[in-house]
Amino acid sequence: MNLTLYVWRQKGPKERGRLEQYEARNVSTEMSFLEMLDVVNEDLIKKGAEPIAFDHDCREGICGTCSQVINGVPHGPQERTTVCQLHMRHYKDSDAIYIEPWRAKAFPVIKDLIVDRSALDSIIQACGYISVHTGGVPDGNAILVPRHDADTAMDASECIGCGACVAACPNGSAMLFTAAKITHLAVLPQGKVEAKKRVCLMTEEMMRKGFGNCTNHYECQAACPKGIKVSFIAKLNREFIKAVNVVSETDSAASATMSSDQ
Ligand code: SF4
Ligand code: FES
Repeated sequence: MNLTLYVWRQKGPKERGRLEQYEARNVSTEMSFLEMLDVVNEDLIKKGAEPIAFDHDCREGICGTCSQVINGVPHGPQERTTVCQLHMRHYKDSDAIYIEPWRAKAFPVIKDLIVDRSALDSIIQACGYISVHTGGVPDGNAILVPRHDADTAMDASECIGCGACVAACPNGSAMLFTAAKITHLAVLPQGKVEAKKRVCLMTEEMMRKGFGNCTNHYECQAACPKGIKVSFIAKLNREFIKAVNVVSETDSAASATMSSDQ
């Protein structure tokens, strides 16, 4: 196949970007999308031109780094498929393909198709972990987890932190990502201990990093390559309400004690 590519080129975070046209010749249907870009880059290098910068690592759908918007859709046209797992057999000869980076306030462009997604790492650093002592391996096996909870935790933990949900959301919201991370810990006995603190810290960090709010567009769910459902956002909201109610109850109890002391 011969294809026409329109690729976002941007020299640096403060430079103006633009779409540039490239011809991709003799593209095999067996190639992955990234392999097709590799071939285009080899041609550019041979001509002494700057190759297209794009993020990639595992190339098997597990690391979440291959962040590209293809023809306006984060990760391209195939459902539940990352860019690295997308194959050229889904395109036909003479197709025009537009390739852009994630577009979101919280993900500034570093170069060409590479964006800075460290804002997602900051949300995890805020409390996306368990810090209480959970014992050794025998304790892990001895603490029974109901089947439904184990399945929910497993489904939520499928999130690879790619950020497609943010890129797809008109508000640039990271609610789906944060909800998946909060849920996979909140439903397990080991994670419940810090659940209230976790939801408060992670949502606060999410807002601090410039992500927008969720207004139920569901674009995140449609773009997610791992099938993370918006029902996890409902779980996040329930966890948040529980945590805030505990804080207000503690505050009321403290004020009642203070009033009786006075
Ligand atoms: S929820 Fe889905 S789209 Fe969002 S970061 Fe996780 S895997 Fe990517
Ligand atoms: S390169 Fe790892 S998910 Fe695409």
